[in-house]
Amino acid sequence: MRFSVCTLVLGSVLIWGAERVGAQAGAPRDAGAAAIEAGGALFRERCADCHGADAKGVRGPDLTRIWTAPNSDQRALQIIRNGVPGSIMPASSAPDDELRSIVAYLRSISTAKNEAATGNVANGQRIFDDQCASCHRINTRGGALGPDLSRIAASQSNQVLTDAVRNASASFTTGYEPVTVVTRDGQRIQGSLIAEDAFSIQILDTHERLQGYVKANLREVVREKTSLMPDFGPDRLSSQDLNDVVAYLATFRASQQPRRAPAGGDDR
Ligand code: HEC
Ligand code: HEC
Repeated sequence: MRFSVCTLVLGSVLIWGAERVGAQAGAPRDAGAAAIEAGGALFRERCADCHGADAKGVRGPDLTRIWTAPNSDQRALQIIRNGVPGSIMPASSAPDDELRSIVAYLRSISTAKNEAATGNVANGQRIFDDQCASCHRINTRGGALGPDLSRIAASQSNQVLTDAVRNASASFTTGYEPVTVVTRDGQRIQGSLIAEDAFSIQILDTHERLQGYVKANLREVVREKTSLMPDFGPDRLSSQDLNDVVAYLATFRASQQPRRAPAGGDDR
């Protein structure tokens, strides 16, 4: 128990740290991408409670569909600054650049399908083969610890993909929730939760072996808060390189049906 609380705290500090660095490391060339990243962090902190982590609305309305009018940026800025009197939508006294980065972020996740990929696809493929393919497959080549990414771009915007790489632990793909089973003799085996009932649990361990355990024989099952996927902060993957990887993933968008692969399902 103590262990999982520690990883939770450490995990959030690392995520937070990575985002702050991202916001400040904005070399001119990366300024747009860095602002969007910073805006995403601010959105999750201040707005997601009401508008949903994906901005598709909970207590507040869907914010992914309000960007079609010509001056929608300006209108959104005003609403975020002044709030909506008579509703729970609060006013904000945050600096202009913070509000602008939130708007940039929201606009970036609104244009989900058929976005033009701006990155260098060849470099993106090289980075993918180096840093991602050990865990992810594309068209049958690569590892199986993480989800197959051949069709991911058909259902997710470039910005959502970018967030998934920067903050792997912010949410887990269904079927890939990280767990550690602790055997009676104290051995710890990490993996993804495949299936579980009252008496038994099956995981795919980090060597991609399917392992089954009778719960009565285990000391503990720890639900980890940190993904098996490492955090790719800006120190590890520059905004430019990340952009290139996303551009590479996006090359599979055009040729695919726009539907979500069953999460963690048939690809395994
Ligand atoms: C306490 C809940 C709450 C929080 C926190 C909140 N909102 Fe809202 N927001 C609402 C509600 C409710 C509305 C709809 C108000 C109405 O029109 O009646 C709204 C409306 C909006 C609109 C206008 C949507 C449209 O239809 O044009 C924007 C833009 C918006 N919010 C952005 C944000 C941003 C950005 C943040 C974070 C800085 C934020 N909101 C935080 C509840 C919230
Ligand atoms: C050590 C293994 C590992 C490596 C290396 C790794 N990932 Fe992952 N990745 C995972 C796992 C496990 C998940 C599912 C759990 C989660 O969502 O965090 C995941 C999830 C994802 C998702 C979300 C998929 C979805 O269905 O929403 C994306 C996108 C992604 N990874 C991209 C990448 C990219 C790009 C790289 C290289 C820069 C990379 N990953 C490197 C293991 C890895």
